[in-house]
Amino acid sequence: NQEKFEILERKNAEALLGGGEKRIEAQHKKGKLTARERIALLMDEGSFEEIGKFVMHRCKDFGLDKEYYLGDGVVTGYGTVNGRLVYVFAQDFTVFGGALSETFAEKICKIMDLAMKSGAPVIGLNDSGGARIQEGVMSLAGYADIFYRNTLASGVIPQISAIMGPCAGGAVYSPAITDFIMMVENTSYMFVTGPNVVKTVTHEVVTSEELGGASTHSTKSGVTHFSCSNEVSCINDIKRLLSYIPQNCEETAPALAYESTDEIRKELDKIIPENPNQPYDMKEVIDHIVDSDSFFEVHKNYAENIVVGFARIGGRSIGIVANQPAVMAGVLDIQASMKAARFVRFCDCFNIPLLVLEDVPGFMPGTNQEWGGIINHGAKLLYAFCEATVPRITVITRKAYGGAYDVMNSKHIGADMNFAWPTAEIAVMGAKGAAEIIFKKEIAVAENPEEKLQEKVDEYTEKFANPYRAAHRGYIDEVILPSDTRQKLIRSFKMLENKVANLPRKKHGNIPL
Ligand code: COA
Repeated sequence: NQEKFEILERKNAEALLGGGEKRIEAQHKKGKLTARERIALLMDEGSFEEIGKFVMHRCKDFGLDKEYYLGDGVVTGYGTVNGRLVYVFAQDFTVFGGALSETFAEKICKIMDLAMKSGAPVIGLNDSGGARIQEGVMSLAGYADIFYRNTLASGVIPQISAIMGPCAGGAVYSPAITDFIMMVENTSYMFVTGPNVVKTVTHEVVTSEELGGASTHSTKSGVTHFSCSNEVSCINDIKRLLSYIPQNCEETAPALAYESTDEIRKELDKIIPENPNQPYDMKEVIDHIVDSDSFFEVHKNYAENIVVGFARIGGRSIGIVANQPAVMAGVLDIQASMKAARFVRFCDCFNIPLLVLEDVPGFMPGTNQEWGGIINHGAKLLYAFCEATVPRITVITRKAYGGAYDVMNSKHIGADMNFAWPTAEIAVMGAKGAAEIIFKKEIAVAENPEEKLQEKVDEYTEKFANPYRAAHRGYIDEVILPSDTRQKLIRSFKMLENKVANLPRKKHGNIPL
Protein backbone atom coordinates (compact mmCIF):
# COMPACT_ATOMS: atom_id res chain seq x y z
CA ASN A 1 0.00 0.00 0.00
CA GLN A 2 2.97 2.29 0.46
CA GLU A 3 2.85 3.12 -3.23
CA LYS A 4 -0.79 4.12 -2.98
CA PHE A 5 -0.05 6.34 -0.01
CA GLU A 6 2.70 7.99 -2.01
CA ILE A 7 0.32 8.73 -4.86
CA LEU A 8 -1.90 10.55 -2.42
CA GLU A 9 1.05 12.48 -1.04
CA ARG A 10 2.10 13.53 -4.53
CA LYS A 11 -1.40 14.65 -5.42
CA ASN A 12 -1.67 16.65 -2.20
CA ALA A 13 1.64 18.36 -2.94
CA GLU A 14 0.52 19.12 -6.48
CA ALA A 15 -2.77 20.61 -5.30
CA LEU A 16 -0.96 22.88 -2.86
CA LEU A 17 0.95 24.45 -5.75
CA GLY A 18 -2.19 25.69 -7.52
CA GLY A 19 -1.14 27.08 -10.92
CA GLY A 20 2.55 26.41 -10.21
CA GLU A 21 5.61 28.16 -8.77
CA LYS A 22 5.90 30.71 -11.57
CA ARG A 23 2.38 31.98 -11.20
CA ILE A 24 2.71 32.05 -7.42
CA GLU A 25 5.77 34.22 -7.89
CA ALA A 26 3.83 36.51 -10.26
CA GLN A 27 1.08 36.77 -7.66
CA HIS A 28 3.59 37.80 -4.98
CA LYS A 29 5.18 40.30 -7.35
CA LYS A 30 1.83 42.06 -7.61
CA GLY A 31 1.87 42.44 -3.82
CA LYS A 32 -0.81 39.76 -3.46
CA LEU A 33 -0.91 36.60 -1.36
CA THR A 34 -2.04 33.24 -2.70
CA ALA A 35 -5.41 31.72 -1.87
CA ARG A 36 -3.83 29.31 0.61
CA GLU A 37 -1.74 32.00 2.27
CA ARG A 38 -4.88 34.06 2.77
CA ILE A 39 -6.73 31.15 4.32
CA ALA A 40 -3.79 30.45 6.63
CA LEU A 41 -3.91 34.06 7.85
CA LEU A 42 -7.66 33.96 8.38
CA MET A 43 -8.11 30.66 10.19
CA ASP A 44 -6.94 29.60 13.63
CA GLU A 45 -3.65 27.80 13.18
CA GLY A 46 -4.09 24.24 11.97
CA SER A 47 -7.88 24.43 11.94
CA PHE A 48 -8.49 24.54 8.19
CA GLU A 49 -9.96 21.43 6.61
CA GLU A 50 -10.11 21.46 2.84
CA ILE A 51 -13.02 20.10 0.82
CA GLY A 52 -12.71 19.21 -2.86
CA LYS A 53 -8.95 19.45 -3.19
CA PHE A 54 -8.81 17.14 -6.20
CA VAL A 55 -11.76 18.53 -8.16
CA MET A 56 -10.97 19.16 -11.84
CA HIS A 57 -12.86 20.91 -14.61
CA ARG A 58 -14.79 19.00 -17.29
CA CYS A 59 -14.20 21.33 -20.22
CA LYS A 60 -12.80 19.83 -23.42
CA ASP A 61 -12.90 22.97 -25.58
CA PHE A 62 -10.22 25.44 -26.59
CA GLY A 63 -7.34 23.26 -25.44
CA LEU A 64 -8.55 22.88 -21.87
CA ASP A 65 -8.53 19.09 -22.28
CA LYS A 66 -4.76 19.42 -21.94
CA GLU A 67 -4.70 21.79 -19.00
CA TYR A 68 -5.84 20.61 -15.58
CA TYR A 69 -5.09 21.77 -12.05
CA LEU A 70 -6.14 19.94 -8.92
CA GLY A 71 -8.74 22.01 -7.12
CA ASP A 72 -9.63 23.90 -10.31
CA GLY A 73 -8.84 27.42 -9.10
CA VAL A 74 -10.67 27.69 -5.82
CA VAL A 75 -9.73 26.48 -2.34
CA THR A 76 -12.78 25.64 -0.24
CA GLY A 77 -13.35 24.29 3.23
CA TYR A 78 -14.02 25.08 6.85
CA GLY A 79 -12.13 25.89 10.02
CA THR A 80 -12.31 28.20 13.00
CA VAL A 81 -11.70 31.90 13.56
CA ASN A 82 -11.16 32.66 17.24
CA GLY A 83 -12.59 29.25 17.98
CA ARG A 84 -15.81 29.69 15.99
CA LEU A 85 -16.72 27.66 12.89
CA VAL A 86 -16.59 29.44 9.51
CA TYR A 87 -16.69 28.26 5.92
CA VAL A 88 -14.36 29.80 3.39
CA PHE A 89 -13.69 29.84 -0.32
CA ALA A 90 -10.58 31.49 -1.72
CA GLN A 91 -10.31 32.01 -5.45
CA ASP A 92 -6.85 31.10 -6.72
CA PHE A 93 -5.64 33.59 -9.32
CA THR A 94 -2.73 31.29 -10.22
CA VAL A 95 -5.14 28.85 -11.88
CA PHE A 96 -6.72 30.30 -15.04
CA GLY A 97 -6.67 33.73 -13.38
CA GLY A 98 -9.11 32.45 -10.75
CA ALA A 99 -11.74 32.26 -13.51
CA LEU A 100 -14.94 30.52 -12.49
CA SER A 101 -15.83 27.19 -14.13
CA GLU A 102 -18.77 24.85 -13.64
CA THR A 103 -16.84 22.72 -11.13
CA PHE A 104 -15.34 25.78 -9.38
CA ALA A 105 -18.90 27.01 -8.76
CA GLU A 106 -19.96 23.56 -7.54
CA LYS A 107 -17.23 23.67 -4.92
CA ILE A 108 -18.43 27.04 -3.64
CA CYS A 109 -22.06 25.88 -3.62
CA LYS A 110 -21.08 22.78 -1.66
CA ILE A 111 -19.62 24.76 1.23
CA MET A 112 -22.50 27.25 1.11
CA ASP A 113 -24.94 24.38 1.48
CA LEU A 114 -22.96 22.98 4.41
CA ALA A 115 -22.84 26.42 6.01
CA MET A 116 -26.61 26.72 5.75
CA LYS A 117 -27.11 23.27 7.29
CA SER A 118 -24.73 23.93 10.16
CA GLY A 119 -25.52 27.62 10.68
CA ALA A 120 -22.13 29.25 10.29
CA PRO A 121 -20.79 32.26 8.34
CA VAL A 122 -19.37 32.03 4.82
CA ILE A 123 -16.34 34.10 3.92
CA GLY A 124 -15.46 34.54 0.26
CA LEU A 125 -11.97 35.67 -0.72
CA ASN A 126 -12.36 36.92 -4.29
CA ASP A 127 -9.55 37.24 -6.82
CA SER A 128 -10.75 36.28 -10.26
CA GLY A 129 -10.77 37.13 -13.96
CA GLY A 130 -14.51 36.33 -14.01
CA ALA A 131 -16.35 33.70 -15.97
CA ARG A 132 -14.01 31.04 -17.42
CA ILE A 133 -14.27 32.12 -21.01
CA GLN A 134 -13.67 28.65 -22.48
CA GLU A 135 -16.70 27.24 -20.63
CA GLY A 136 -19.30 29.76 -21.81
CA VAL A 137 -22.78 29.30 -20.41
CA MET A 138 -21.69 26.57 -17.96
CA SER A 139 -19.71 29.20 -16.16
CA LEU A 140 -22.64 31.64 -16.19
CA ALA A 141 -24.85 28.91 -14.77
CA GLY A 142 -22.28 28.44 -12.02
CA TYR A 143 -22.49 32.10 -11.08
CA ALA A 144 -26.25 31.98 -10.96
CA ASP A 145 -26.13 28.91 -8.69
CA ILE A 146 -24.02 30.96 -6.30
CA PHE A 147 -26.21 34.10 -6.49
CA TYR A 148 -29.26 31.98 -5.73
CA ARG A 149 -27.61 30.52 -2.65
CA ASN A 150 -26.34 33.94 -1.54
CA THR A 151 -29.92 35.15 -1.61
CA LEU A 152 -31.39 32.17 0.22
CA ALA A 153 -28.64 32.44 2.84
CA SER A 154 -29.20 36.18 3.29
CA GLY A 155 -30.47 36.81 6.80
CA VAL A 156 -29.82 33.17 7.81
CA ILE A 157 -26.02 33.13 8.07
CA PRO A 158 -23.62 36.08 7.84
CA GLN A 159 -21.83 36.32 4.48
CA ILE A 160 -18.66 38.38 4.08
CA SER A 161 -16.84 39.08 0.82
CA ALA A 162 -13.24 40.24 0.61
CA ILE A 163 -12.10 41.53 -2.78
CA MET A 164 -8.39 40.90 -3.12
CA GLY A 165 -7.88 41.22 -6.86
CA PRO A 166 -10.12 41.61 -9.90
CA CYS A 167 -13.86 41.09 -9.52
CA ALA A 168 -15.62 42.05 -12.71
CA GLY A 169 -18.74 41.44 -14.75
CA GLY A 170 -21.38 39.15 -13.32
CA ALA A 171 -18.93 38.12 -10.58
CA VAL A 172 -19.68 41.34 -8.67
CA TYR A 173 -23.20 40.26 -7.90
CA SER A 174 -22.29 37.59 -5.41
CA PRO A 175 -20.40 40.02 -3.14
CA ALA A 176 -23.17 42.58 -3.71
CA ILE A 177 -25.76 40.24 -2.20
CA THR A 178 -23.58 39.34 0.79
CA ASP A 179 -23.69 41.36 4.00
CA PHE A 180 -20.30 43.03 3.93
CA ILE A 181 -17.67 43.79 1.31
CA MET A 182 -14.04 44.53 2.11
CA MET A 183 -11.68 45.78 -0.60
CA VAL A 184 -7.89 45.91 -0.53
CA GLU A 185 -6.48 49.26 -1.64
CA ASN A 186 -4.56 49.40 -4.94
CA THR A 187 -4.72 45.66 -5.70
CA SER A 188 -8.46 45.09 -6.05
CA TYR A 189 -11.24 46.43 -8.21
CA MET A 190 -14.89 45.76 -8.88
CA PHE A 191 -16.96 46.81 -11.86
CA VAL A 192 -19.76 45.53 -14.04
CA THR A 193 -17.87 46.54 -17.19
CA GLY A 194 -14.18 47.40 -17.37
CA PRO A 195 -12.43 50.52 -18.70
CA ASN A 196 -12.27 49.23 -22.31
CA VAL A 197 -16.01 48.66 -22.58
CA VAL A 198 -16.66 51.96 -20.82
CA LYS A 199 -14.52 53.73 -23.41
CA THR A 200 -16.37 52.10 -26.30
CA VAL A 201 -19.84 52.75 -24.98
CA THR A 202 -19.64 56.09 -23.16
CA HIS A 203 -16.31 57.43 -24.52
CA GLU A 204 -15.12 57.99 -20.97
CA VAL A 205 -11.45 57.33 -20.34
CA VAL A 206 -10.94 55.94 -16.89
CA THR A 207 -8.46 53.64 -15.15
CA SER A 208 -9.51 50.44 -13.35
CA GLU A 209 -8.62 52.05 -10.03
CA GLU A 210 -10.70 55.16 -10.71
CA LEU A 211 -13.60 53.15 -12.05
CA GLY A 212 -13.78 50.52 -9.36
CA GLY A 213 -10.88 50.60 -6.89
CA ALA A 214 -11.24 50.50 -3.12
CA SER A 215 -11.13 54.28 -2.76
CA THR A 216 -13.89 54.74 -5.35
CA HIS A 217 -16.18 52.16 -3.78
CA SER A 218 -15.53 53.27 -0.21
CA THR A 219 -16.22 56.96 -0.90
CA LYS A 220 -18.29 57.42 -4.06
CA SER A 221 -20.51 54.37 -4.52
CA GLY A 222 -20.58 52.88 -1.03
CA VAL A 223 -20.34 49.40 -2.62
CA THR A 224 -17.59 48.43 -0.21
CA HIS A 225 -18.07 48.71 3.54
CA PHE A 226 -14.37 48.61 4.34
CA SER A 227 -11.28 49.83 2.52
CA CYS A 228 -8.20 48.03 3.80
CA SER A 229 -4.63 49.20 3.28
CA ASN A 230 -3.34 45.66 2.60
CA GLU A 231 -4.39 42.02 2.64
CA VAL A 232 -3.30 41.41 6.22
CA SER A 233 -5.35 44.31 7.53
CA CYS A 234 -8.27 43.11 5.39
CA ILE A 235 -8.15 39.67 7.01
CA ASN A 236 -7.84 41.27 10.45
CA ASP A 237 -10.93 43.35 9.72
CA ILE A 238 -12.86 40.18 8.80
CA LYS A 239 -11.87 38.61 12.13
CA ARG A 240 -12.86 41.73 14.05
CA LEU A 241 -16.18 41.95 12.24
CA LEU A 242 -16.94 38.31 13.06
CA SER A 243 -16.37 39.02 16.76
CA TYR A 244 -19.45 41.29 16.85
CA ILE A 245 -21.87 39.01 15.05
CA PRO A 246 -23.54 35.68 15.81
CA GLN A 247 -23.11 32.48 13.81
CA ASN A 248 -26.64 32.59 12.41
CA CYS A 249 -30.04 34.24 12.78
CA GLU A 250 -31.07 31.94 15.66
CA GLU A 251 -28.19 32.98 17.89
CA THR A 252 -26.96 36.13 19.58
CA ALA A 253 -23.48 37.59 19.26
CA PRO A 254 -20.92 36.41 21.79
CA ALA A 255 -20.67 38.69 24.83
CA LEU A 256 -17.38 39.46 26.51
CA ALA A 257 -17.02 39.13 30.26
CA TYR A 258 -17.72 42.49 31.82
CA GLU A 259 -17.65 43.81 35.33
CA SER A 260 -19.57 46.97 36.01
CA THR A 261 -17.42 49.76 37.41
CA ASP A 262 -18.00 53.49 37.66
CA GLU A 263 -20.10 54.08 34.55
CA ILE A 264 -20.48 57.84 34.91
CA ARG A 265 -18.78 59.68 32.06
CA LYS A 266 -18.31 63.33 33.04
CA GLU A 267 -16.67 64.14 29.68
CA LEU A 268 -20.06 63.77 28.01
CA ASP A 269 -21.41 66.79 29.90
CA LYS A 270 -18.95 69.00 28.04
CA ILE A 271 -19.49 67.90 24.45
CA ILE A 272 -22.58 69.81 23.31
CA PRO A 273 -21.58 73.40 22.37
CA GLU A 274 -23.50 76.35 23.86
CA ASN A 275 -24.44 77.50 20.36
CA PRO A 276 -26.89 74.95 18.89
CA ASN A 277 -25.59 75.64 15.38
CA GLN A 278 -22.04 74.73 16.23
CA PRO A 279 -20.93 71.26 15.19
CA TYR A 280 -19.34 68.62 17.43
CA ASP A 281 -18.04 65.16 16.69
CA MET A 282 -20.59 62.42 17.39
CA LYS A 283 -17.79 59.84 17.34
CA GLU A 284 -16.51 61.42 20.55
CA VAL A 285 -19.92 60.79 22.10
CA ILE A 286 -19.79 57.19 20.90
CA ASP A 287 -16.31 56.64 22.33
CA HIS A 288 -17.39 57.87 25.75
CA ILE A 289 -20.53 55.72 25.77
CA VAL A 290 -19.24 52.34 24.58
CA ASP A 291 -16.67 49.96 26.12
CA SER A 292 -13.20 51.31 25.50
CA ASP A 293 -11.84 50.82 21.97
CA SER A 294 -14.85 48.74 21.02
CA PHE A 295 -16.29 50.93 18.23
CA PHE A 296 -15.80 49.32 14.82
CA GLU A 297 -17.01 51.68 12.15
CA VAL A 298 -18.66 50.45 8.95
CA HIS A 299 -18.73 52.62 5.78
CA LYS A 300 -16.31 55.05 7.42
CA ASN A 301 -15.69 57.25 4.39
CA TYR A 302 -19.11 57.10 2.75
CA ALA A 303 -22.06 59.36 3.64
CA GLU A 304 -20.15 60.64 6.63
CA ASN A 305 -23.14 62.68 7.79
CA ILE A 306 -24.32 59.46 9.39
CA VAL A 307 -22.11 57.11 11.40
CA VAL A 308 -22.81 53.38 11.63
CA GLY A 309 -20.86 50.57 13.22
CA PHE A 310 -20.59 47.89 15.86
CA ALA A 311 -19.53 48.35 19.45
CA ARG A 312 -19.84 46.73 22.85
CA ILE A 313 -21.58 48.12 25.85
CA GLY A 314 -21.14 46.23 29.11
CA GLY A 315 -19.51 43.49 27.03
CA ARG A 316 -22.51 43.04 24.71
CA SER A 317 -22.46 43.63 20.99
CA ILE A 318 -24.65 46.46 19.66
CA GLY A 319 -25.11 48.27 16.34
CA ILE A 320 -24.93 52.07 16.42
CA VAL A 321 -26.60 54.50 14.03
CA ALA A 322 -25.69 58.10 14.79
CA ASN A 323 -26.23 61.41 13.03
CA GLN A 324 -22.93 63.25 12.63
CA PRO A 325 -23.36 67.00 13.26
CA ALA A 326 -19.71 67.53 12.20
CA VAL A 327 -20.58 66.68 8.57
CA MET A 328 -23.31 68.66 6.78
CA ALA A 329 -24.89 69.27 10.19
CA GLY A 330 -25.87 65.59 10.31
CA VAL A 331 -28.61 66.04 7.71
CA LEU A 332 -30.26 62.92 6.27
CA ASP A 333 -29.73 62.64 2.52
CA ILE A 334 -30.11 59.80 0.02
CA GLN A 335 -26.76 58.18 0.71
CA ALA A 336 -27.02 58.48 4.49
CA SER A 337 -30.51 56.96 4.46
CA MET A 338 -29.44 53.98 2.38
CA LYS A 339 -26.28 53.42 4.39
CA ALA A 340 -28.13 53.44 7.69
CA ALA A 341 -31.08 51.41 6.40
CA ARG A 342 -28.88 48.55 5.26
CA PHE A 343 -27.02 48.53 8.56
CA VAL A 344 -30.24 48.48 10.57
CA ARG A 345 -31.46 45.53 8.48
CA PHE A 346 -28.25 43.62 9.05
CA CYS A 347 -28.42 44.13 12.82
CA ASP A 348 -32.06 43.09 12.89
CA CYS A 349 -31.38 39.94 10.83
CA PHE A 350 -28.76 38.84 13.32
CA ASN A 351 -30.22 39.84 16.68
CA ILE A 352 -27.85 42.72 17.32
CA PRO A 353 -29.54 45.40 19.47
CA LEU A 354 -29.61 48.92 18.06
CA LEU A 355 -28.54 52.19 19.63
CA VAL A 356 -29.47 55.42 17.86
CA LEU A 357 -27.74 58.69 18.75
CA GLU A 358 -29.76 61.50 17.29
CA ASP A 359 -28.87 65.03 16.32
CA VAL A 360 -30.61 65.65 13.02
CA PRO A 361 -31.78 68.93 11.48
CA GLY A 362 -34.04 67.08 8.99
CA PHE A 363 -33.87 65.73 5.47
CA MET A 364 -31.67 67.43 2.87
CA PRO A 365 -33.62 69.86 0.66
CA GLY A 366 -33.01 70.43 -3.06
CA THR A 367 -33.72 69.27 -6.59
CA ASN A 368 -30.74 66.96 -6.51
CA GLN A 369 -32.24 65.08 -3.59
CA GLU A 370 -35.87 65.17 -4.72
CA TRP A 371 -35.07 64.07 -8.27
CA GLY A 372 -32.77 61.41 -6.88
CA GLY A 373 -35.69 59.99 -4.92
CA ILE A 374 -35.00 61.05 -1.33
CA ILE A 375 -38.64 60.17 -0.65
CA ASN A 376 -38.03 56.51 -1.47
CA HIS A 377 -34.58 56.32 0.02
CA GLY A 378 -35.54 58.06 3.23
CA ALA A 379 -38.45 55.64 3.46
CA LYS A 380 -35.97 52.75 3.45
CA LEU A 381 -34.56 53.92 6.76
CA LEU A 382 -38.01 54.51 8.19
CA TYR A 383 -39.14 51.06 7.06
CA ALA A 384 -36.00 49.37 8.36
CA PHE A 385 -36.49 50.82 11.83
CA CYS A 386 -40.23 50.11 11.88
CA GLU A 387 -39.62 46.49 11.04
CA ALA A 388 -36.70 45.90 13.43
CA THR A 389 -37.64 43.64 16.34
CA VAL A 390 -34.29 43.73 18.17
CA PRO A 391 -33.97 45.85 21.33
CA ARG A 392 -33.95 49.47 20.16
CA ILE A 393 -32.85 52.49 22.16
CA THR A 394 -32.55 56.14 21.11
CA VAL A 395 -30.70 58.99 22.77
CA ILE A 396 -31.50 62.46 21.44
CA THR A 397 -28.42 64.57 22.10
CA ARG A 398 -29.57 67.76 20.41
CA LYS A 399 -31.77 68.31 17.35
CA ALA A 400 -34.66 66.03 16.48
CA TYR A 401 -36.50 67.98 13.84
CA GLY A 402 -39.44 67.22 11.60
CA GLY A 403 -39.98 63.90 9.86
CA ALA A 404 -36.41 62.96 10.73
CA TYR A 405 -37.48 62.84 14.39
CA ASP A 406 -40.01 60.15 13.50
CA VAL A 407 -37.58 58.24 11.29
CA MET A 408 -34.65 58.11 13.71
CA ASN A 409 -36.04 55.31 15.87
CA SER A 410 -38.73 57.31 17.61
CA LYS A 411 -40.99 55.77 20.23
CA HIS A 412 -43.85 55.85 17.75
CA ILE A 413 -42.18 53.42 15.34
CA GLY A 414 -41.34 50.83 17.93
CA ALA A 415 -38.27 51.96 19.86
CA ASP A 416 -38.16 50.45 23.34
CA MET A 417 -36.42 53.18 25.31
CA ASN A 418 -36.09 56.80 24.27
CA PHE A 419 -33.80 59.09 26.20
CA ALA A 420 -33.06 62.77 25.67
CA TRP A 421 -30.33 65.00 27.02
CA PRO A 422 -31.40 68.36 28.49
CA THR A 423 -29.85 69.92 25.36
CA ALA A 424 -32.39 68.15 23.12
CA GLU A 425 -34.63 70.20 20.83
CA ILE A 426 -37.59 68.19 19.64
CA ALA A 427 -39.61 70.25 17.19
CA VAL A 428 -41.05 70.41 13.71
CA MET A 429 -38.17 72.62 12.61
CA GLY A 430 -35.58 75.09 13.90
CA ALA A 431 -36.97 78.04 15.91
CA LYS A 432 -36.08 80.69 13.32
CA GLY A 433 -37.74 78.90 10.42
CA ALA A 434 -40.76 78.11 12.54
CA ALA A 435 -41.16 81.71 13.77
CA GLU A 436 -40.83 83.09 10.25
CA ILE A 437 -43.71 80.92 9.09
CA ILE A 438 -46.21 81.04 11.92
CA PHE A 439 -45.68 84.71 12.85
CA LYS A 440 -45.21 85.94 9.28
CA LYS A 441 -47.98 88.54 9.39
CA GLU A 442 -47.18 89.74 12.89
CA ILE A 443 -43.55 90.24 11.96
CA ALA A 444 -44.39 92.03 8.69
CA VAL A 445 -46.54 94.69 10.35
CA ALA A 446 -44.26 95.18 13.38
CA GLU A 447 -42.52 98.50 13.90
CA ASN A 448 -39.21 96.71 14.16
CA PRO A 449 -39.56 93.41 12.26
CA GLU A 450 -36.16 92.14 13.29
CA GLU A 451 -36.81 92.67 16.95
CA LYS A 452 -40.21 91.03 16.57
CA LEU A 453 -38.71 88.04 14.81
CA GLN A 454 -36.19 87.60 17.61
CA GLU A 455 -38.95 87.85 20.19
CA LYS A 456 -40.93 85.15 18.39
CA VAL A 457 -37.84 82.98 17.92
CA ASP A 458 -37.23 83.18 21.66
CA GLU A 459 -40.85 82.31 22.34
CA TYR A 460 -40.74 79.27 20.08
CA THR A 461 -37.35 78.23 21.47
CA GLU A 462 -38.64 78.32 25.00
CA LYS A 463 -41.67 76.22 24.11
CA PHE A 464 -40.16 73.61 21.83
CA ALA A 465 -36.36 73.75 21.85
CA ASN A 466 -36.22 71.34 24.74
CA PRO A 467 -37.09 67.72 25.48
CA TYR A 468 -39.88 68.39 27.99
CA ARG A 469 -42.88 68.65 25.70
CA ALA A 470 -41.99 65.19 24.39
CA ALA A 471 -41.29 63.89 27.90
CA HIS A 472 -44.69 65.14 29.16
CA ARG A 473 -46.30 62.95 26.53
CA GLY A 474 -44.11 59.94 27.28
CA TYR A 475 -42.49 60.07 23.83
CA ILE A 476 -39.27 60.40 25.81
CA ASP A 477 -38.99 57.94 28.67
CA GLU A 478 -36.44 59.92 30.61
CA VAL A 479 -34.44 63.11 30.28
CA ILE A 480 -30.94 62.24 31.45
CA LEU A 481 -27.62 63.93 32.07
CA PRO A 482 -25.14 63.12 29.32
CA SER A 483 -22.76 61.76 31.96
CA ASP A 484 -25.35 59.15 33.01
CA THR A 485 -25.91 57.87 29.46
CA ARG A 486 -23.58 54.89 29.57
CA GLN A 487 -25.06 53.60 32.80
CA LYS A 488 -28.63 54.04 31.55
CA LEU A 489 -27.80 52.20 28.34
CA ILE A 490 -26.10 49.27 30.07
CA ARG A 491 -29.14 48.85 32.29
CA SER A 492 -31.71 49.32 29.53
CA PHE A 493 -30.06 46.89 27.14
CA LYS A 494 -29.87 44.36 29.96
CA MET A 495 -33.54 44.96 30.75
CA LEU A 496 -34.38 44.35 27.06
CA GLU A 497 -32.22 41.25 26.76
CA ASN A 498 -35.13 38.86 26.44
CA LYS A 499 -37.33 41.09 24.30
CA VAL A 500 -39.69 39.22 22.02
CA ALA A 501 -41.55 41.12 19.29
CA ASN A 502 -43.38 39.56 16.40
CA LEU A 503 -44.33 41.12 13.10
CA PRO A 504 -47.68 40.38 11.48
CA ARG A 505 -47.64 37.12 9.48
CA LYS A 506 -46.78 37.78 5.85
CA LYS A 507 -44.77 36.34 2.99
CA HIS A 508 -42.41 39.26 3.14
CA GLY A 509 -42.83 43.01 3.30
CA ASN A 510 -42.35 45.33 0.36
CA ILE A 511 -39.57 47.68 1.48
CA PRO A 512 -39.34 50.69 -0.89
CA LEU A 513 -36.23 49.53 -2.77
N1 COA B 1 -11.19 32.82 -18.35
C1 COA B 1 -10.15 32.00 -18.56
N2 COA B 1 -8.89 32.33 -18.29
C2 COA B 1 -8.65 33.53 -17.78
C3 COA B 1 -9.68 34.45 -17.52
C4 COA B 1 -10.99 34.06 -17.83
N3 COA B 1 -12.03 34.86 -17.59
N4 COA B 1 -9.16 35.57 -17.01
C5 COA B 1 -7.84 35.37 -16.92
N5 COA B 1 -7.52 34.15 -17.40
C6 COA B 1 -6.19 33.53 -17.46
C7 COA B 1 -5.31 34.21 -18.47
O1 COA B 1 -5.49 33.62 -19.73
C8 COA B 1 -3.92 33.93 -17.90
O2 COA B 1 -3.55 32.62 -18.20
P1 COA B 1 -2.00 32.17 -18.30
O3 COA B 1 -1.43 32.35 -16.95
O4 COA B 1 -2.07 30.77 -18.72
O5 COA B 1 -1.38 33.09 -19.30
C9 COA B 1 -4.16 33.99 -16.43
O6 COA B 1 -5.55 33.79 -16.25
C10 COA B 1 -3.76 35.31 -15.79
O7 COA B 1 -4.38 36.34 -16.52
P2 COA B 1 -3.60 37.64 -17.03
O8 COA B 1 -4.45 38.30 -18.04
O9 COA B 1 -2.22 37.28 -17.40
O10 COA B 1 -3.54 38.48 -15.66
P3 COA B 1 -3.56 40.04 -15.47
O11 COA B 1 -3.32 40.28 -14.04
O12 COA B 1 -2.66 40.67 -16.45
O13 COA B 1 -5.05 40.49 -15.85
C11 COA B 1 -7.48 40.38 -15.82
C12 COA B 1 -6.15 40.09 -15.08
C13 COA B 1 -8.61 39.82 -14.98
C14 COA B 1 -7.65 41.89 -15.99
C15 COA B 1 -7.45 39.74 -17.22
O14 COA B 1 -7.05 38.40 -17.08
C16 COA B 1 -8.79 39.78 -17.92
O15 COA B 1 -9.17 40.79 -18.49
N6 COA B 1 -9.53 38.64 -17.92
C17 COA B 1 -10.78 38.50 -18.60
C18 COA B 1 -11.89 39.20 -17.83
C19 COA B 1 -13.24 38.91 -18.49
O16 COA B 1 -13.59 39.51 -19.46
N7 COA B 1 -13.96 37.91 -17.94
C20 COA B 1 -15.13 37.38 -18.51
C21 COA B 1 -16.35 38.16 -18.20
S1 COA B 1 -17.01 37.97 -16.56
